[in-house]
Amino acid sequence: MAFARLATIVALAFTTVTVNAGLVKRVTCSNGKTTANAVCCPLFDAVDFLQANLFDGSECGEEAHSALRISFHDAIGFSINGGKGGGADGSILVFNQTELGFHANGGIDDIVADQFPIFQTLNQQMNISAGDFLHLAGAVGTSNCPGAPRLQFMFGRPPPVAAAPDFTVPEPTDSVTDILARFADAGFSPAEAVALLSSHTIAAADVIDPTIPGTPFDSTVGTFDSQVFLEVLLKGTLFPGNGSQAGEVLSPIAGEMRLQSDFLISQDSRTACLWQSMINDQNRMMTQFKDAMAKLQTLGQSNLVDCSDVVPVPATFTGPITYPASFSQDDVQIACTEQAFPSLATVAGPAPTLAPVPGS
Ligand code: HEM
Repeated sequence: MAFARLATIVALAFTTVTVNAGLVKRVTCSNGKTTANAVCCPLFDAVDFLQANLFDGSECGEEAHSALRISFHDAIGFSINGGKGGGADGSILVFNQTELGFHANGGIDDIVADQFPIFQTLNQQMNISAGDFLHLAGAVGTSNCPGAPRLQFMFGRPPPVAAAPDFTVPEPTDSVTDILARFADAGFSPAEAVALLSSHTIAAADVIDPTIPGTPFDSTVGTFDSQVFLEVLLKGTLFPGNGSQAGEVLSPIAGEMRLQSDFLISQDSRTACLWQSMINDQNRMMTQFKDAMAKLQTLGQSNLVDCSDVVPVPATFTGPITYPASFSQDDVQIACTEQAFPSLATVAGPAPTLAPVPGS
């Protein structure tokens, strides 16, 4: 039923009317939506299809989080020095039998299984490539999370030609030096790497400790706020599940997972002030994340058309963020001495225990 409706809509969407809205030339698609370029028209219906069939009706849930994660794992296979993967090309979907075998892609199998049939349907309907599909899904899933920036979406990636090589995706057990070197090899500065880690504000772990799937990285996993940057700095006291696992360090809150890599990056002299400066600065976090994602989602690609206006506008988060109940600045492991630490209120009540993310 949904597939039949999509087929009709896609056929109609190719009929376009050009209008002139002031100085900016716009196109009105047959479904009434407006965009900068006629080739973007069918994507509005693809977005509706993704929201209904992948994101459970525009939720910031497990699939939205995983759609963002897979867009990173797909794209980061690239090297500015050549000799690695094709970048943001959808190779992780098409060559999943190879890329899912890489240790760093643990847990990605679920989102590949969810996305693959939806990709096949849309590919049949509108000949969308795997790279366009995967990076559109990343932008749309992220837009479902209040506080997120509206990510750019560029259209026109060719099909991927090969799997990315192994050892291109950073692991939580890696040193800061190795992580920053891998990001640099893909073209990202330390500031851009920290900006990309804003993604961990809508993140949970399934495979770090498989006894506790869906364990969130911060106490507001459904909101794209700067809470994760604060909570990673709080003194760690416990492991949320079955003791200490590889890539995990002590967490401050029951039910919360802290990655070793996030913690080390928050403490390292090369990145500590970049990390701290995100705390309670929603605008800085959104702007830097949006810019770094625009770069990530076009790695290795050229001659793309800007179809960003098909991406839904996220709900806003106005903040301020707060210490979880029972915590205060006394609990912060401050590693940046050059900047004052922001003054934040504490939520009233007893120390929280976080619930796992449903569907994990
Ligand atoms: C130093 C670099 C990074 C490391 C070591 C890292 C590591 C991890 C790990 C271990 C998990 C949990 C996997 C599991 O147990 O299921 C995770 C989840 C996640 N990561 Fe990262 N990550 C990094 C950078 C990024 C970047 C750049 C993005 C996106 C731009 C990203 C987005 C996510 C998201 C959204 C999740 C949650 C997925 C879900 O809840 O289903 N990560 N990451």
